Order: sequence, then structure tokens, then C-alpha cells
Amino acid sequence: MKEFWNARYAEAGFAYGTQANEFLLEQSSKIPPGRVLCVAEGDGRNALYLATQGYSVTAVDQSAVGLEKIRQLGQQNNVEITTIEADLQDFNIQPSAWDGIVSISAHLPPAIRKSLHRQVVEGLKPGGVLILEAYTLKQLEMSGSGGPPATQKDMFMSLSALREELQGLDFILAQEIERVFNEGKYHQGPGAVVQLVALKKATPQE
Ligand SMILES: C[S@@+](CC[C@H](N)C(=O)[O-])C[C@H]1O[C@@H](n2cnc3c(N)ncnc32)[C@H](O)[C@@H]1O
Repeated sequence: MKEFWNARYAEAGFAYGTQANEFLLEQSSKIPPGRVLCVAEGDGRNALYLATQGYSVTAVDQSAVGLEKIRQLGQQNNVEITTIEADLQDFNIQPSAWDGIVSISAHLPPAIRKSLHRQVVEGLKPGGVLILEAYTLKQLEMSGSGGPPATQKDMFMSLSALREELQGLDFILAQEIERVFNEGKYHQGPGAVVQLVALKKATPQE
């Protein structure tokens, strides 16, 4: 799969455009100031936007080609973005370290996703916020592009699975909706997604 993504990011331009994901644009102000981790960040549109908003951004992805594009985007826009090349299967999220974690179209095999989501819960600081958007299975009936292929149905997400996997977070916005995408070459047209804004509650003081 790494080769697939490296080939995609080796194409001219930016696979999902240079504007941030629409849901992230709507919701990012809910992330407290500070450090944000973007998982499966691809070629950098979300990391760039968050960095321009003053967050200290770290982007992780398996694609060296995508990460190089992120570094270039950062330089061109005079913002610093830390990049980490890693397979999320092996990546350890630092506990209680992040004011925000952003997961946009981070479709993974279930075992890796569940392990990642356990780490997301631990990785957020109290008061920290997760923003996630991912395609649901209904995407296979939609006319737009985006999301895993029909042969990898278990990589789609659902609200009910996220409720299981992200126990410990308060869901402050959680919905499965249809919306029209206009995000680069590969996310176009009508799509079906789950959207989530979830808060790590502050630990009660003695
Ligand atoms: C659809 S792209 C999303 C890119 C970005 N989040 C955005 O919204 O523009 C999915 C990304 O997931 C990454 N990815 C998939 N499986 C991964 C894994 N096991 N470890 C790290 N990255 C992975 C791919 O390299 C790709 O960049």
C-alpha cells in the first residue's frame, strides 16, 4: 500500500487540494491552542492550515513522497510542520501530549485502527480534542470519489464502531451524513461520511 500512496503523491499537484478538509475548517477552533498531531496526513493540506492558525503541528504518514510535499508546503508558507514517516501499525502516540489529534480519511485495517484509537484516547491531554472524518460503507453507493475500495469494506468507519473504539472521550458532535466533496482530484462529488468532534475530559481534582 505504501507504494500506492507514494505513486499518488508523486503526481503533479496535491491529491486532495491545498485547502483543508471542509469539516476540519468548520471545527478546528474547538482544538485548544498548542500541539496537534495529524495522523495519515498525506500531502499536507490539513497540517498546513493548522500551522497557519498557530498550532504546533506534527504530521505522520507512511508516504515519504507525501511528507516531502508537506515540508515544501510549510516552507512555501513560512510555517514549520514536523513530519514523521511511520507505519501507523508501529507508531506510538505519546500519552497526554496532544491538545488536538486530527484524523481525516485515515482508513486502516480494523486491528490497526482500534489500536490507534486506543492510543488517541491516551494521547490527548485533558481538554484535548479529536477531529475525525471518514467514509462510511454507504460511500460505495455514492457517485463521488474517495474512500477505500469495495474489496476493503472493513476499512470504512461507522459511528457505532467509533463509540466502541474511542471510549474515554466525550462525543460533542457525532454524525453520519452525506455531503458533496470538492477536495482535490480524489475527493469529488457526493460522499457519505462519519464526522466526529470528541473531547478528552479533564480529570476531576481531589
Ligand atoms: C486518503 S489519504 C488522506 C490524506 C490526508 N489525511 C488528507 O485528508 O488530505 C490516506 C492516507 O493514509 C495513509 N496511510 C494509510 N495507511 C497507513 C499506515 N498504515 N500508516 C501510515 N499512513 C497510512 C496514506 O499514506 C495516505 O496518505
